[in-house]
Amino acid sequence: MMFNADNVFNSVIAASAISAAYELEIFEILESHEIFYLENFCTEKELHKESVKAIVDALCCFKILEFTPELQIVRQGESFQSVVLYKGYFLWLIRGYGYCLQNLASLCKIENRGDDFLKRDGKYIAIAGRDYGKNFVDSYFDRIIENISFNTVVDLGCGSAERLVSLAKKYPGMRGIGIDINPEAVKVALSNVNSASVQDRIFMIEGDLKNLERRPEFEEVDLMFSFFNGHDTWPYDSCLKTMQSLRRIFPNVKRFLLCDTYRSNLIPSHKVPIFTLGFEFTHAVMGQYIPLQSEWMKLFLESGWICVNCREIGIPFSAIFELAPNH
Ligand SMILES: C[S@@+](CC[C@H](N)C(=O)[O-])C[C@H]1O[C@@H](n2cnc3c(N)ncnc32)[C@H](O)[C@@H]1O
Repeated sequence: MMFNADNVFNSVIAASAISAAYELEIFEILESHEIFYLENFCTEKELHKESVKAIVDALCCFKILEFTPELQIVRQGESFQSVVLYKGYFLWLIRGYGYCLQNLASLCKIENRGDDFLKRDGKYIAIAGRDYGKNFVDSYFDRIIENISFNTVVDLGCGSAERLVSLAKKYPGMRGIGIDINPEAVKVALSNVNSASVQDRIFMIEGDLKNLERRPEFEEVDLMFSFFNGHDTWPYDSCLKTMQSLRRIFPNVKRFLLCDTYRSNLIPSHKVPIFTLGFEFTHAVMGQYIPLQSEWMKLFLESGWICVNCREIGIPFSAIFELAPNH
């Protein structure tokens, strides 16, 4: 299979355009209305019309949108549904890791890799996680949750806290604690919790899951989960320490649902699926080791957790490991 430079170049622009169109609610409008008028849309939202038209044009190149110039009408193109389903990945890459993409060569130089050398945007990583979580994770999660009884839940690295909020709405007696290291993610989570009016049952802690201290409210926790941040605790010895300490800090947890993307070990080719290349690429630049699934399994055994089930989810090379304490 041959690729040409036109395609590669235009794909880069389309990726940014997808991320922006998602943020500007262009996709949302076209999901609820058949068409919109470019002029009216820009006036209502106080947007620069030429910039929005440029986004529309880039998306028309990939048949994601269609544009009728005489009437200035925008509508879904034939690729709309199949691409828009994945919009969270584009927002994650372009908005969350834009700094990494723009400064890639500089970040390769050892002299530039001091403390906090790579700026990620926690707000957009949290918003993106909520979207791809809804499309590719939640149905698997819901099926597991239905078979577990719980009263108090902690979500480690909760991002937008969407998972806790949805559970709180579904289970009126449930209480929840969201923990995240990123202040921007905590802001998104608090706003989400307040908008859903569940602030009396879910509270947020800005903290590092690798350095948590015991607290009285942690004694109540019987269900723990952690979605898409387990790899941040690697390499092996550091993750082992964290997994062992979580057992002490949350002594009454009966189930720990650890969901993460593991190393694909794929040979680079056009067959690498969406997300995998971006995930492995950005984490390599950050210097963050991504474990294989077999490495996770070895670690669970050693850290005092038994993996009672491992279910693949809708994100490539990703699974929910259902863990129980090994008493
Ligand atoms: C990819 S996002 C996933 C967010 C959320 N769990 C979800 O599934 O939508 C990873 C989250 O983990 C958080 N995180 C990473 N390392 C962490 C740590 N050591 N302690 C607490 N949170 C952490 C990040 O700030 C980010 O919000």
